Amino acid sequence: MKYTALRQRLIDTALAMNRSGINQGSAGNLSVRVEEGFLITPSALPYEECRPEDIVLMDLNGGWQGSRKPSSEWRFHRDIYRQRKEAGAILHAHPPWCTTLACLGKGIPPFHYMVAVAGGSDIRCAPYATFGTQELSNGVLQALENRNACLLSNHGMLCLDKELTRTLSLAVEVENLARIYCQALAIGEPLLLDEREMEHVLERFREYRQQGST
Ligand code: 13P
Repeated sequence: MKYTALRQRLIDTALAMNRSGINQGSAGNLSVRVEEGFLITPSALPYEECRPEDIVLMDLNGGWQGSRKPSSEWRFHRDIYRQRKEAGAILHAHPPWCTTLACLGKGIPPFHYMVAVAGGSDIRCAPYATFGTQELSNGVLQALENRNACLLSNHGMLCLDKELTRTLSLAVEVENLARIYCQALAIGEPLLLDEREMEHVLERFREYRQQGST
């Protein structure tokens, strides 16, 4: 079997995702890019029961190999890998605070400078569409324009980064922002940073990332 170690890393990241409190049960799904396309978690199988051979290898046309069915959300994973060349791993989860906002159809505005971690001055919320559909994938791609994360209305959140560990860290950070935004909304009206300041922060983030990668 090809990619045994990477398949195990995908499972380990899914288990860490649930331990972190941003997801539960067999909700959510994870994938990682490989030469042929991507490896993705199987549909409906609890991560604790998942073995490397249960991970599904998919190509970018929707073809797949494996004994299990790929995640029902394989369309948005495939479409993101097709459109976003920098995407090395994708995580979809149902984090409680992100999902609270998503159930109100709300994204996350620039109430805190760390919102820039997702690549722009806000984190959008994609419109509702039934899970697993092409319509959902189309809405997700739009919400992700110039962003590495978005919320999914009445559903959850999704994010991408170069590789698995960074993708999980981004997901945890977005959930933390969603929690603080909900808390701030509960006791008052959060102050928003303006576009100019967010541009400034984004520039500082680019420098900060460069330092981190040397
Ligand atoms: P899968 O088990 O098919 O990945 O579905 C979980 C999910 O969260 C659908 O949005």
